[in-house]
Amino acid sequence: MENVDAVIDGAKISALKGEDLPIVYIHGSGCDASIWMNQLEELGGYAVDLPNHGKSCFAEIRSVDDYAYFVAKFVKKILGKAIIIGHSLGGAIVQKICIEYGDIVKAVGLISTGARLRVLPEILQGLEKNPDETSKIISEFSFLDSTLKKKYSKIFAERNKILLKDLMLCDKFDLLDKYRNNEIKILCPTVIVVGRYDKLTPPKYSQFLNERIKSSEIYIVDNAGHMVMLEKPVEFNRILKNFIERLV
Ligand code: COA
Repeated sequence: MENVDAVIDGAKISALKGEDLPIVYIHGSGCDASIWMNQLEELGGYAVDLPNHGKSCFAEIRSVDDYAYFVAKFVKKILGKAIIIGHSLGGAIVQKICIEYGDIVKAVGLISTGARLRVLPEILQGLEKNPDETSKIISEFSFLDSTLKKKYSKIFAERNKILLKDLMLCDKFDLLDKYRNNEIKILCPTVIVVGRYDKLTPPKYSQFLNERIKSSEIYIVDNAGHMVMLEKPVEFNRILKNFIERLV
């Protein structure tokens, strides 16, 4: 595994790289590139650290659109065009990239995400007032697996400020009516994956996307919560591999 960096508008954007593969993974709120380790190791590709996360540097981020801008520039610089896979907030970023920067997109993956990502007010307020306890609750919501729950409860607590910032951006992300009014056209091959027991972005959100994106296919993974690619890597990688193989 190596690091690949690109400087975009003066900010270093870093990615973890596995075997050569024109695929870019985008993590969700308060996470970093390492959540895609199972995919990098088995399939390859690039897992980007969003600005202000992991090894990437500071950049002013005011909306999901700003994240989309940096990831799109990174893809253009490193690969030209790629299959772009996003989890949760990362999935919101992928949707924005499709809308604004369609020329860099070969195909997309929308993982545990939705057309709107409202966040429980208790989570937003809790992260401000009682970050340790609220990080534990978010981790409870994110996983079925108890070892991962424990591990990420600590990680989220350490990163509570950026987690809150990301979740506030998610809360404002809303393309629901635009999809309903046929104002959004995602025409590229799209794989949608969600855990059957996802409490943060329930399967209903993925089904909505599947109904609105004609070129999409959906997989609901059993015994998985919000972090499906971490909890069920074998099943998840099989779905992704099959999707990628049919693209060439
Ligand atoms: N795709 C499809 N339908 C969606 C949707 C999406 N992304 N987001 C909301 N909806 C639907 C709801 O299912 C609901 O449908 P219904 O009236 O048939 O039951 C309707 O739109 C209203 O949305 P809702 O989410 O209930 O809005 P709200 O403002 O009343 O509730 C929350 C806000 C935070 C309570 C709720 O969104 C929630 O529980 N979210 C999940 C927990 C969370 O914090 N997730 C973090 C995401 S990053």
